[in-house]
Amino acid sequence: MSNLQDQLHRPLRDIRISVTDRCNFRCQYCMPAEVFGPDFAFLPSDKILSFEEIERLVKIFVSLGVRKVRITGGEPLLRQDLPKLIERIHHIAGVEEIALTTNGTLLKKYAHDLAKAGLARVSVSLDSLDEDRFFEMNGHRGKVSTVLEGIEKAAEAGLQVKINMVVQKGKNDQDIVPMARFFKEKEHILRFIEYMDVGNSNGWRLDDVVSKKEIIDRINEFSPLKPTEPNYIGEVATRYQYEDGQGEIGVISSVTDSFCGTCSRARISAEGKLYTCLFATEGTNLRDLLRSGEDDESITRFISNVWENRDDRYSDERNEETMRKRKNSKIEMSHIGG
Ligand code: GTP
Ligand code: 5AD
Ligand code: SF4
Ligand code: SF4
Repeated sequence: MSNLQDQLHRPLRDIRISVTDRCNFRCQYCMPAEVFGPDFAFLPSDKILSFEEIERLVKIFVSLGVRKVRITGGEPLLRQDLPKLIERIHHIAGVEEIALTTNGTLLKKYAHDLAKAGLARVSVSLDSLDEDRFFEMNGHRGKVSTVLEGIEKAAEAGLQVKINMVVQKGKNDQDIVPMARFFKEKEHILRFIEYMDVGNSNGWRLDDVVSKKEIIDRINEFSPLKPTEPNYIGEVATRYQYEDGQGEIGVISSVTDSFCGTCSRARISAEGKLYTCLFATEGTNLRDLLRSGEDDESITRFISNVWENRDDRYSDERNEETMRKRKNSKIEMSHIGG
């Protein structure tokens, strides 16, 4: 195992790869339709990493310690032939697990092929069970029923399913308990995500955040919870089990807590930039390096050097000043993946 460490002694274990910057939703908190309109310039296909290039990068990252690969977007299932990419990654020795983050709209169509290709897990985003509220939140693009069908198909195909709900005060906080009840019965793990100040387009305000404490208090009233141990070091969600023994939930509290101390995640955008933090303002261009004729050894050294110099800890340091400094210069979530 590589003993590569960054400035804060954190290893590199997890790589999140965005395979497209496009999405068929326009969630207000991520790709508001006013900003990502019909004239928005998405990446042209020659600027996006090919499957060969992604495969080559994953092999290099595995040699540096990566064990877990997560495919994200935009909406990753919009990328043509995605199961073929999963299959290539699945065959790389050292990759222990491949997961996918999706809005679920195309899961019904692809779940079977994805599972066959070697995908282990999916995280499906769903912010409400109420059709009207969901429609409002996703920019009038998708239905709850389609996402639920996708979730069912994924489970039938043998994929482990988690549900991600971003909670925004006044928008969908009334859905916390109905969502908890529904997925407890279905026995899928639901994770509540504190609304975060990623990107520059969503007009984030601290007042819009529903804290982990509030979320837990409300669910406790419905069905009591007890905290439980993380599945692995550096897990972003804090886990809770229902005291009645039926099921668990998670809360990703990157605003009211922070988990930078154990963050071993690197991110690659669809155009091949390497980001060492979700709140980064700049990335390192790996695409040009891959296309420049450099050999694997020198690219490995280059990436190693980027990681060794990494000192990101945005959630730990989030305050008025750090937020002001990064105003309008952070990378968008749809570009970098979740
Ligand atoms: P598991 O592999 O199931 O533990 O999932 P995960 O939590 O790593 O992945 P997922 O994509 O489901 O993450 C859920 C959400 O947590 C993301 O979409 C982000 O909103 C948030 N998140 C994940 N990683 C980080 C991180 O490194 N920093 C911050 N601030 N938030 C993160
Ligand atoms: N805050 C918290 N979570 C977000 N996501 C997208 N934007 C935000 C935000 N501003 C979530 C999506 C999805 C994952 C990729 O990230 O809902 O679950
Ligand atoms: Fe698309 Fe996910 Fe962003 Fe919503 S949160 S716009 S589904 S990438
Ligand atoms: Fe990692 Fe940056 Fe998130 Fe901290 S804020 S946990 S360093 S991605």
